Amino acid sequence: MYTLSTFFALSLPTITLAMVTVSDPSDIISPALWAADNAIVPDYNVPFVSVQPENIPAAYEFEANSTSISHRAFSTSLNDTSAILVANNAELNLSFVDIEKSGYASNLLWSSFYGFNAAVNIANASTAHLDNVNITVHNGAANVYVYGSDSVVHVNNSWLYSSGPVSHGVYASGNGTAYVSNVQQFSGGRRSSAFSGDSPAGYIHVSDSVAHTTGIGSATFYALGEIYANNVVAVSENGPTIFMDGTQKAYLTNCDTTAGLLGGVAIFSSMIRTSGAILSLKSSKITTLGSDMPGLWFGNTIIDVSLYDTQLVTASGILVVANYSQITQDFDYYASYLDNANLLPAEVSVKVEESTLVGDLVAYNSSSISWSLESHSSWTGGAYSGYGNAYFDIHLDGTSSWKLTNTTVLQNFTNEDTTLSNIDSQGFNIYYNSSAGLNGYLGGETIALTGGGNAIPV
Ligand SMILES: *[C@@H]1O[C@H](CO)[C@@H](O)[C@H](O)[C@H]1NC(C)=O
Ligand SMILES: *[C@@H]1O[C@H](CO)[C@@H](O)[C@H](O)[C@H]1NC(C)=O
Ligand SMILES: *[C@@H]1O[C@H](CO)[C@@H](O)[C@H](O)[C@H]1NC(C)=O
Ligand SMILES: *[C@@H]1O[C@H](CO)[C@@H](O)[C@H](O)[C@H]1NC(C)=O
Ligand SMILES: *[C@@H]1O[C@H](CO)[C@@H](O)[C@H](O)[C@H]1NC(C)=O
Ligand SMILES: *[C@@H]1O[C@H](CO)[C@@H](O)[C@H](O)[C@H]1NC(C)=O
Ligand SMILES: *[C@@H]1O[C@H](CO)[C@@H](O)[C@H](O)[C@H]1NC(C)=O
Ligand SMILES: *[C@@H]1O[C@H](CO)[C@@H](O)[C@H](O)[C@H]1NC(C)=O
Ligand SMILES: *[C@@H]1O[C@H](CO)[C@@H](O)[C@H](O)[C@H]1NC(C)=O
Ligand SMILES: *[C@@H]1O[C@H](CO)[C@@H](O)[C@H](O)[C@H]1NC(C)=O
Ligand SMILES: *[C@@H]1O[C@H](CO)[C@@H](O)[C@H](O)[C@H]1NC(C)=O
Ligand SMILES: *[C@@H]1O[C@H](CO)[C@@H](O)[C@H](O)[C@H]1NC(C)=O
Repeated sequence: MYTLSTFFALSLPTITLAMVTVSDPSDIISPALWAADNAIVPDYNVPFVSVQPENIPAAYEFEANSTSISHRAFSTSLNDTSAILVANNAELNLSFVDIEKSGYASNLLWSSFYGFNAAVNIANASTAHLDNVNITVHNGAANVYVYGSDSVVHVNNSWLYSSGPVSHGVYASGNGTAYVSNVQQFSGGRRSSAFSGDSPAGYIHVSDSVAHTTGIGSATFYALGEIYANNVVAVSENGPTIFMDGTQKAYLTNCDTTAGLLGGVAIFSSMIRTSGAILSLKSSKITTLGSDMPGLWFGNTIIDVSLYDTQLVTASGILVVANYSQITQDFDYYASYLDNANLLPAEVSVKVEESTLVGDLVAYNSSSISWSLESHSSWTGGAYSGYGNAYFDIHLDGTSSWKLTNTTVLQNFTNEDTTLSNIDSQGFNIYYNSSAGLNGYLGGETIALTGGGNAIPV
């Protein structure tokens, strides 16, 4: 069992450190009881179906009408069968309802793209309001699946438990939208993210919720489409807080999350490198546990990142990695050219505001990191190559500061404080590219820094 914990220092007359423990569904149903389910490795080597099948099997179907049900239980144990289907311009409201779903998926592509075997499947311009609903699934099934441009699900005050592969908590695809509030989620299987989008896009809004995943490939958020999260406390024991593939968007506010594999976020393009992905972390904290896990990991992508009033707490001491790499469907290693001949370097631009960050920037094989410290931010760290060429730009505004912990070589080095007095070198040198146009204000000179180091033109 894993306990989600947050720590608050209370300003009492005598200083007290109190621990607040947040519970999640695995405190009630031990994942150890479902170890065999959780060990199943998903098999995606199945026939692809490019259009939504006409018939989506379900034990209870609500089609083309409006229905409201409370204080009832629904269940099914059939393979490839949902407990509840809401489809064809229907509306279903469930409150104080228990749903138990077991039974396997024989084609994971049907499950991923059309919601086969999901406990609740809302499809084809339908809406559902789930309030005080307990959905417990085994053998591999999404708890709630929403499909189609005009389909919307609201999940409030609910409990989502799953074992088995590809058992996302709330799963939106085909442009479907989910609003999730006051939910406790747990998944024990592989590739079972708490809140997940899928092709071509899912739009997920989550607030005031707790999420806990333990499987490889199971993130708190799988962004394919857009993720908006507010006040989510989460642990992904064998995944990042966010997986993002391609030009997607993720906005986290007031979140406190912990990640155990790959990176605090792992953002990449799995095919050709794409440009325009967005990551925004506001008043949030991401903790990474692995000894080599960065706070933020990027491969084969061009992305703008915003960190506002945000903490990255890493066991590795590495804040950001930009790599000539990607994440494969195995979701447990940083892949190379051997896995994808379309790889290109990552180009990462990070704007840091109102934040205090400690750790290094590491770029690999011609990747670049552009790091801008603004609005009273401070950074303690350095930048260096992990492999081959690496390009770093650093910008400081007049309210921000940098304390070096290593020799750092820069391309663009811009500073509103043209005397560089907001830098504490601690004896390390900065080497800047004197041919870079933006560095003209330095006059190609060697400039002495506080702490004994120098800014030296090369
Ligand atoms: C959804 O719409 C498609 C396209 O109109 C149709 O083929 C399918 O039968 C519908 N499915 C359900 C479950 O309503
Ligand atoms: C809506 O249709 C389903 C069958 O599709 C039926 O079971 C349900 O009772 C209907 N709801 C109402 C309010 O008539
Ligand atoms: C379902 O709930 C929504 C939101 O509370 C409400 O607007 C709608 O009228 C309800 N529908 C039924 C059939 O009760
Ligand atoms: C359900 O799926 C499981 C796992 O693939 C299989 O062993 C079982 O035979 C299936 N049951 C039926 C009724 O097809
Ligand atoms: C939800 O349902 C499961 C399965 O019946 C049960 O074990 C669990 O205690 C329920 N959760 C809550 C919070 O009641
Ligand atoms: C999703 O949106 C795209 C672009 O608007 C549209 O072409 C496609 O039909 C939508 N898919 C579904 C399942 O609604
Ligand atoms: C459900 O949560 C939404 C936020 O996603 C909130 O606006 C709505 O009032 C909540 N409804 C209930 C019945 O709690
Ligand atoms: C960087 O990418 C290479 C493959 O190009 C991979 O072998 C290495 O493990 C990656 N390292 C990190 C920290 O991303
Ligand atoms: C580095 O990038 C080159 C392409 O520029 C590629 O051929 C090579 O495999 C990469 N090496 C590593 C270790 O990432
Ligand atoms: C300093 O940078 C070098 C590369 O220039 C790197 O190998 C080393 O790990 C860094 N040391 C620390 C303490 O960060
Ligand atoms: C440096 O600044 C120039 C001019 O704005 C820009 O084109 C370039 O991409 C920046 N970064 C690097 C690594 O050269
Ligand atoms: C320095 O910057 C210039 C202009 O951007 C570029 O052409 C050159 O390759 C850079 N030098 C190094 C050593 O990166």
